[in-house]
Amino acid sequence: MKDAYIVTSVRTPGCRRKKGALAQTRPEDLLKTALNGVMERTPGLEKGAVEDIMTGCAFPEAEQGLNIARVVAQMAGFPDTTCGVTVNRFCSSSLEAIALQTMRIKCGWCDVAIGSGVESMSIVPMGGNMPRPHPEWTAKCPDVYISMGVTAENVANRYKITREMQDEFAYHSQMKAVAAQKAGKYKEIVPTPADRYVEKDGSWVKETFIQDFDDGVRETTTVEGLAKLRTVFAATGSVTAGNSSQTTDGAAATLLMGEDALKKYNQKPVARVVAYAVAGVKSDEMGVGPAYAIPKVLKMAGLKVEDIGLFEVNEAFASQAIYCMQQLGIYENKALWSSESDSRIFNVNGGAIALGHPLGCTGAKLCAQLVNEMRERGVKYGVESMCIGGGMGAAALFELVE
Ligand SMILES: CC(C)(COP(=O)(O)OP(=O)(O)OC[C@H]1O[C@@H](n2cnc3c(N)ncnc32)[C@H](O)[C@@H]1OP(=O)(O)O)[C@@H](O)C(=O)NCCC(=O)NCCS
Repeated sequence: MKDAYIVTSVRTPGCRRKKGALAQTRPEDLLKTALNGVMERTPGLEKGAVEDIMTGCAFPEAEQGLNIARVVAQMAGFPDTTCGVTVNRFCSSSLEAIALQTMRIKCGWCDVAIGSGVESMSIVPMGGNMPRPHPEWTAKCPDVYISMGVTAENVANRYKITREMQDEFAYHSQMKAVAAQKAGKYKEIVPTPADRYVEKDGSWVKETFIQDFDDGVRETTTVEGLAKLRTVFAATGSVTAGNSSQTTDGAAATLLMGEDALKKYNQKPVARVVAYAVAGVKSDEMGVGPAYAIPKVLKMAGLKVEDIGLFEVNEAFASQAIYCMQQLGIYENKALWSSESDSRIFNVNGGAIALGHPLGCTGAKLCAQLVNEMRERGVKYGVESMCIGGGMGAAALFELVE
């Protein structure tokens, strides 16, 4: 088998659904920015060298339907010879895209490819515009269609993750993101043209501005403030807007190459894609997924949790993130994840509670954040992981190329 390498990995900012800077920007335009961003940051490579663009999208319909990967490949100026395909595994869709492109490179079926992701949660709502669950199957097995927030409540109740634990974790996620923003950490962000419609002389006119930061980060967050928020998914529950991932708009893209292409185009990779795993769990507690997927991917590589220098794990909800950290032996050692610790290794620059979770974009977004930070710190092994609606977890292992 050949090896597959990440050469460049970028993302747009993540911005709040409906209330944020990208709410009126079509998903095609977000993806176009990410694809052009990844090419502009790879000097010496022509668009024509890219054989295929794979795009993860969790609700690939309406504006983000019609095989958005192929549509946007052409919008972004790739030639007809660059193909496009859209894939869906909900929250891991674009990590799946990166993994599938890796596999194609490893097999020798392709040598230059992009794995990407997009989601406009403002324009296409979570659940889609016209959900149509199978009627008899819904009656027999409703869990596969269950609200993600209810699964977070289930994890909290079953594994005794208290409201206080969730709010404390959420506070640290916000504070890590605040510190990272101030320190200019998110170098993987591509400044993104954003549209807004304003009324002028009785008609709506499109204005475009540049957005270059994640707009869901809340510097004013306090544990006391979080404790006052009402629960959203169960009257007597513990999951709130403050300890859940934010619903967000964004796109991200990762350029992958095989060894021959690296030589041919004189490119230096950032990281090698070592392994990828998915793990199935119960639908009604889908958030436990990373607790199964991460050990699985580590076993494939003969590594242990202690060998990993950075974890980037999607914070769909604080309850499930805490459960997964407990299972990995990370939670009890607060120095490994606290915003006040210099030796933290878990979501070091904040997670989806502060930065948002644009569903189909998240896999490629977290990849960009992780490989950027691995390079900054000189960390050898990094793990990315997330839970997935329907009851799954996904995890990928990356190795820094010095
Ligand atoms: C939980 C959820 C329903 C909340 O939605 P929302 O009400 O639109 O959330 P918002 O981020 O706008 O926050 C609502 C309010 O909570 C309060 N709030 C949120 N975070 C806060 C914080 N850190 N500190 C203090 N107050 C906070 C604010 O008053 C905020 O209103 P404002 O933005 O006008 O000030 C939504 O974020 C959600 O569904 N998240 C999970 C998404 C999901 O399931 N993804 C898939 C996972 S598998």
